[in-house]
Amino acid sequence: MEIKELQSKFIEKFGENDKEIKRFFSPSRINIIGEHIDYNGGKVFPCALEIGTYAIARKNDDNVLNLYSLNMENNGKIDIDDLVYKKENDWMNYAAGMAKYIKESGFNIGGLDVLVYGNIPNGSGLSSSASLEMLIGEIFNIFYNEKKIDRTKLSLLGQDTENKFFGLNTGIMDQFIIANGKKDHALLLDTNTLEFEHYPFDLKDNKIVILNTNKRRELKDSKYNERRAQCDEAVSILKNYKDIKYLCELGEEDLHLLENIPDEIVRNRAKHAILENARVKEAAQALQDGNIEQLGKLLIESNDSLRELYEVSGEHLDSITKHSNEFEYCLGARMTGAGFGGCGIAIVKEDKIEEFKKYVFEKYKEDTGLEAEFISSNVGESVHEIK
Ligand code: GLA
Repeated sequence: MEIKELQSKFIEKFGENDKEIKRFFSPSRINIIGEHIDYNGGKVFPCALEIGTYAIARKNDDNVLNLYSLNMENNGKIDIDDLVYKKENDWMNYAAGMAKYIKESGFNIGGLDVLVYGNIPNGSGLSSSASLEMLIGEIFNIFYNEKKIDRTKLSLLGQDTENKFFGLNTGIMDQFIIANGKKDHALLLDTNTLEFEHYPFDLKDNKIVILNTNKRRELKDSKYNERRAQCDEAVSILKNYKDIKYLCELGEEDLHLLENIPDEIVRNRAKHAILENARVKEAAQALQDGNIEQLGKLLIESNDSLRELYEVSGEHLDSITKHSNEFEYCLGARMTGAGFGGCGIAIVKEDKIEEFKKYVFEKYKEDTGLEAEFISSNVGESVHEIK
């Protein structure tokens, strides 16, 4: 949908007045590598996409957030003096949560009329929720705070919304990349220190293809928190052998310490975290060296580990990544994001992409009965006002 069309829908919905209307965009994201380690103090390597969430917004004097989404059914009002989670508020809880934590950290909030439209496939694991959080955050930042909330703070407020408002103990990766991404660059983030560096995302004659399994991520939330608790359990045991706060402070040379973890499942989770972190560093180097074959290999290793050791893939992601990796001109494919359904990514030779899609579509349908969807998107900018 064109931004002009969104603007007319905004006027249709909220009417005209003399207050200034502004337009915003917030991207979705993929993670190239470094999965399930952003809550283990590890390094992650995501990038922002050109698909995402748009908003048209304007201040109001009524102390309410008037929210209208072109994608969702439940629309309505949030009273900014009553910022508590309410089930019936559905997606609007993201706006309520952001407003609450912006206010609690000493920044300003106030009334807003907001129309939202997203072109991220729903439940696809490309971070539509973090995209929405950063969008609302940036709208408050620009209308009420003269942009004084810096990008790291903005992403931490988004994480508060997930963790405290929704009770989902996610890490910082999604919000951070959406707040700090850069066009045509991947971002290497140290989730322990929040230091980051942009890497030119040049895949030579290859491209990223996003593989949507069209399998929604059921059970994701409880399984996610369970994984996180298992990592905490591993740390509490390993602390007796080495002074650590996070699993990813351990390197490959420390793998022998895992023998002290009696539960095999917990041991496997820890092994994944340590080795995945090592792969991220190698992947960033491979991209910098233009060694895309090596990058592809690391993606495959990461996927194997997420399937076998961390157990967050499931039959749909396993099928789509397996058939992608069988294809001769695919350099590497893996699941991306939280897992349990959602999307994968594949690095494919540009002139073989159509053939690739046809091959994977057929094989995946044979396995699962579902039709895969292939999404192409360039690497885009962080959340911003559209001028
Ligand atoms: C979700 C979470 C992130 C991260 C990924 C897995 O996207 O929001 O914080 O943990 O899963 O890497």
